Amino acid sequence: MKARAIKDLIEPQMVIEGAGVRLLRSFFPQESNLYDPFLLFDHFAFNDPTEGPIRGFPTHPHRGIETVTYMLEGNVQHRDSLGNSGIIGPGDVQWMTAGGGILHEEMPRRGPDGTIYGFQLWVNLPASLKMSRPNYQEVKAGSIPESLQDGISIRVVAGTVNGIEGPVQQIAAKPLYLEVKLPVHSDFTQPVTPGHTALIYVFEGEGEIAGQPVKALSMAILGDGDCIQAKTRDFPMRFMIMAGAPFRESIAPYGPFVMNTREEIAQALADLRTGTFIKY
Ligand code: CO
Repeated sequence: MKARAIKDLIEPQMVIEGAGVRLLRSFFPQESNLYDPFLLFDHFAFNDPTEGPIRGFPTHPHRGIETVTYMLEGNVQHRDSLGNSGIIGPGDVQWMTAGGGILHEEMPRRGPDGTIYGFQLWVNLPASLKMSRPNYQEVKAGSIPESLQDGISIRVVAGTVNGIEGPVQQIAAKPLYLEVKLPVHSDFTQPVTPGHTALIYVFEGEGEIAGQPVKALSMAILGDGDCIQAKTRDFPMRFMIMAGAPFRESIAPYGPFVMNTREEIAQALADLRTGTFIKY
């Protein structure tokens, strides 16, 4: 087995989005599409109640992508143009396939101890599915299976780990999306399909990936290989793994849209202006 080495380490940068929400952003949609099929990774981390009220993300559109919200603490209240609404609570995931278009609002709320902690990942859709019917896969914390071996906890959102299949299914990028907790002095190996893009977001503690030191907060971009290898020594480490099949298509990103051409972006904006954005 060839372990995937760290090719690049990204330090997340503070950005302001929505109605003044502070986020730690590792990467965002760019024409270079370096992390194909992944487009964006944001970390919501409001751990200081003196930051005041959190204004959230008032109604905004998406087209051509999937947005994946994974919460650890606090929650996100959401509502959309299809009439869906609900609360994404601690340990829950919402895998939203925007397809041809939705309008939604997302409002983060602090948990009982005043914190909000969670991630939003954007996954691309291939050209053939960019205008597809929107779809939601919402999974409550209790329905996300956990593999527990030698003290290593792996929550399986999408993909398969130790014979355990994640509840999020039928995603074009064939993703593996996992939350992993390594206690001290542990050794972790996870097979990943060669040729797929693989990223690791370390959000607590420190350790090694394929022998290279890493610590929170960092996004590790991995090279090719058969598996991910991670190790801890005197500190635990907690991280998200994202892996998926690249589409190798050119992309045209614009705000909350990621299409294949500038013409398709112009069409999305025209559809918004003329009230024909929602197709289903
Ligand atoms: Co959104």
